[in-house]
Amino acid sequence: MKTLLNIALPAAIASTLLLGSLPTAAQTTKLGSELTAEELQALSAMIPNAPAPQDHELVHIPPTMDDLEASDLHPKMKEAIRRGYDLFTNTQQLRGEYVFNNMNCSSCHMGDGRLPYAGPVWPAAVTLPAYRGKNNHVNNLEERIAGCFTYSMNGKPLEYGSDDMLALSLYHQWLATGVKMYPQEKIYGRGFPRMPDPELSPSAERGRVAYQANCATCHQEDGGGVVENGEVVFPALWGDNSYNWGAGISRVFTLASFTKHNMPLGQPNSLSGQDAWDIAQYINSHERPQDPRYTGDAVETREKFLDTFHKHTLYGTEVNGRILGDHDNVGGKDFLRPDTIRPRDFSGNK
Ligand code: HEC
Ligand code: HEC
Repeated sequence: MKTLLNIALPAAIASTLLLGSLPTAAQTTKLGSELTAEELQALSAMIPNAPAPQDHELVHIPPTMDDLEASDLHPKMKEAIRRGYDLFTNTQQLRGEYVFNNMNCSSCHMGDGRLPYAGPVWPAAVTLPAYRGKNNHVNNLEERIAGCFTYSMNGKPLEYGSDDMLALSLYHQWLATGVKMYPQEKIYGRGFPRMPDPELSPSAERGRVAYQANCATCHQEDGGGVVENGEVVFPALWGDNSYNWGAGISRVFTLASFTKHNMPLGQPNSLSGQDAWDIAQYINSHERPQDPRYTGDAVETREKFLDTFHKHTLYGTEVNGRILGDHDNVGGKDFLRPDTIRPRDFSGNK
């Protein structure tokens, strides 16, 4: 365990080292059937061993920060995009005000939010505003970002329309450069695509063994991750410093897909599907900060959001004799639910 920690680098540097030596693909937007051999090769270097695009899928390789510097965008525009990028990759600068766990946006949206199968963020810029089942109304890009602040960062959204919110959403929109609005094609590698069901139903017990063999060196046996000199080196997978019970990745199928396609760091797609499901079941059987939609009763909250969300999580179910989420612990913050999170109404009847 110590050897890895001794050479441990800040996450941003480590991932640059891992990805930086590979050929980088030039910015492109095409159907899978139109990709050249070079583009396919560059894509597979970005995401080793991931499934290749289908002919009918929309493949977009977003611009990089080097492309930004080389572009002829106005210096003020570059400045704002740099600020968005900085907020995305070093979200810990908002710690204690908007972020109350150990995450950066890029902790889950790997490769600066650019990579297929790693939660690329640009699709949100071209498919929103749209209806979302999770909150049962029409959402725009800012509100989608606010969702990840509320649940994944266990925090509170940047103010709508603020300079930082504008910069962060601009970074998403700039990554989408060249993609048309509301594309009808299926987007290649969007989100953390659902994998086929495993042969054996996911087991936390098998997952514990696979976790210790593949993940604990970095994320630690207690799932708490590693913080060194105030800098998050490996983010937490459960406990107070991790995502809360309302986060998309607390769904077992989402964490299984994240794990299979992105972890262990530097060895994507190396685990079997079964291992990824088992590890996800194990990680998401642990406690974490309360779901901000909590009604005061975890079993009731589970029921309330069962169809749209919690049927995919273990929240409100009994694990080792205890009901998960049966507590008032909101993690590092002092509120349950940010005021920003409210229903919207477009009926015109207000
Ligand atoms: C703990 C992991 C995690 C963190 C941290 C996180 N997100 Fe997410 N994000 C997700 C998951 C999971 C999804 C849903 C993906 C899916 O549906 O497969 C998502 C979806 C999104 C989407 C929508 C993408 C689409 O395809 O429409 C955007 C935009 C987004 N996140 C932005 C952010 C921003 C900005 C931050 C930082 C403030 C952030 N996220 C932090 C896990 C995370
Ligand atoms: C070599 C170190 C290393 C190993 C091994 C590793 N991870 Fe990670 N993991 C990281 C780093 C670093 C990040 C943050 C990514 C970034 O900031 O670029 C991360 C991010 C994550 C995240 C999203 C953020 C969070 O804390 O929830 C999850 C989930 C995760 N890893 C699960 C796993 C699982 C499951 C395994 C084992 C199969 C694993 N990791 C193995 C280094 C590692």
